[in-house]
Amino acid sequence: MKKLSIAMLSMVLAGSMLLTACGGGNTQPAENTGSDDTQQSETAENTEGGVLRMGTNATFPPYEYMDENNEVAGIDAEIAAAIADKLGMELEITDMAFESLIPALQAGTIDIVLAGMTVDPERAEQVNFTDTYATGVQVVIVPENSDIAPVENEEGAMEVDLTGKTIGVQTGTTGDLYCTDDYGQEFVKQFDNGPLAVAALMNGQVDCVVIDNEPAKNYVAANEGLKILDTAFANEDYAAAIAKDNTELFEQVNTAIQELKADGTIQTIIEKYIPAEAE
Ligand code: ARG
Repeated sequence: MKKLSIAMLSMVLAGSMLLTACGGGNTQPAENTGSDDTQQSETAENTEGGVLRMGTNATFPPYEYMDENNEVAGIDAEIAAAIADKLGMELEITDMAFESLIPALQAGTIDIVLAGMTVDPERAEQVNFTDTYATGVQVVIVPENSDIAPVENEEGAMEVDLTGKTIGVQTGTTGDLYCTDDYGQEFVKQFDNGPLAVAALMNGQVDCVVIDNEPAKNYVAANEGLKILDTAFANEDYAAAIAKDNTELFEQVNTAIQELKADGTIQTIIEKYIPAEAE
């Protein structure tokens, strides 16, 4: 298992620290806001001309978030649109809890997940992952005045020890899995989404939040008084997930992703949202 690494420091937030929370837009827990309620009959069995039903959790900018029109926008939505386009399909996006995505694939209520979802061996037993299309890193968000601080390990990498800290995570994410493994469930507080975990950090209910780097940057930009620790955590690969038995769609989507990588489309989409350091 990937370690979140170790180093130790004392307590941070007296519950007193109440910097006002809630920056912009992406804070509400998303519910089923499928942009139009298309009759949910068409599975993607015959792809061409069909509906590609994508599931995501749109609280994860810049990969997916709700725009001002209450539509799912972001890198994953644009990549999915490019895939649907290649397949001659109509894209329909449903926003749901992150932990419901794999069950929804298995139940056949959606055909594909693009959700900044990390390829992980346990998930790969449940669904098929396409080629990866982006990378992420788990990071730690703390209040600016936190005394949780990285230290250098023997290899010269910066590590942080969260032992004994209360850690906020989004339920079912890799951040949740790693922290539960490394520090024990009793130290991990699960939230429906990243913005709620960050709100808990702002009002002192948790000492830190462990989440993917790009959403972390967005949350920190939207909330005064937070920072991302400079640590080198596990690198992760994001891929689309499709039900194990949906092999025809899988082949087509995977080919589409390979082509969209090869011709630079995916790179262009990522750079549109992550200008400085697109991968
Ligand atoms: N990369 C992490 C994972 O796969 C977090 C993904 C969260 N995605 C989201 N759309 N909320 O577990």
